[in-house]
Amino acid sequence: MEEQGEILNENNLEPEEQQMEDVAEAEEKKVADGVIIKLDNVKKSFNGDFTALEDIDLEIQEGEFVSIVGASGAGKSTFLKLIYAEEMPTEGEVYFEGKPLSAISRRKLPFHRRRIGTVFQDFKLLPKKTAFENVAYAMEVSGAPTEEIMEDVPQILDIVGLSDKMDKYPRELSGGEQQKVVMARALIHKPIVIIADEPTGNLDPVASLEIVKLLLKINKLGTTVILASHDREVVNKAAKRVIVLDRGRVICDDARGKYKMC
Ligand SMILES: Nc1ncnc2c1ncn2[C@@H]1O[C@H](COP(=O)(O)OP(=O)(O)OP(=O)(O)O)[C@@H](O)[C@H]1O
Ligand SMILES: [Mg+2]
Repeated sequence: MEEQGEILNENNLEPEEQQMEDVAEAEEKKVADGVIIKLDNVKKSFNGDFTALEDIDLEIQEGEFVSIVGASGAGKSTFLKLIYAEEMPTEGEVYFEGKPLSAISRRKLPFHRRRIGTVFQDFKLLPKKTAFENVAYAMEVSGAPTEEIMEDVPQILDIVGLSDKMDKYPRELSGGEQQKVVMARALIHKPIVIIADEPTGNLDPVASLEIVKLLLKINKLGTTVILASHDREVVNKAAKRVIVLDRGRVICDDARGKYKMC
């Protein structure tokens, strides 16, 4: 019976995937309520020798705003990549919404990543598309219907304060405005977490503060924000939890921290 054979189980998963789901469910119970991200004894080595992160044990609560600081090479981007599952830990486990990321099958990885909005230093906008079209495009490729796009894009551009620049091309926007388009694009899938890696790296101090204010606003609307930054002003303006990394280790974790090297 071919047809019956195709019904694998209630979630339509391969047995191996189902097993991984079961492990994930069991592991899920280990993580306390309200914890959105947990790193449990995480170590990340590259090429079998160089250790970029070590002994990382921490939890991030739903709705938190966390700044990750540390010298160049301290492991900030690697930390964010582990959360996005762009890198997997060499030892230990990263949990997202209670689920161990190691148990997510490759097929389900895009769903995990869609829960996370990303903002990076080098804003990659499509140069031949307007601000509106850049944000709309990200919805189009994920198959959103036109009505939804027409409704959501103006709303999101309004949140980032770009309603009046919707029809401008990237070359007609300042660096700060371009970064706001990137933030709008990061918000379209209504992520529960935003990870921002040096989002102000290419901006002047005024534009940088605008971006932090926007991250704070997004956070206030309920999204967990994880910001990796070198910028003292930016981190102090956020005035939220600061985790300091030094050569791959957490050397400070302050609930209402200031930028410092401990
Ligand atoms: N794919 C990789 N292969 C080998 N080594 C890597 C890889 N990615 C990162 N590293 C190393 O891991 C260390 C941490 O890198 P990471 O990019 O996380 O630092 P960072 O704190 O983000 O630095 P920066 O402030 O310069 O962005 C660095 O020494 C880096 O060279
Ligand atoms: Mg980095």
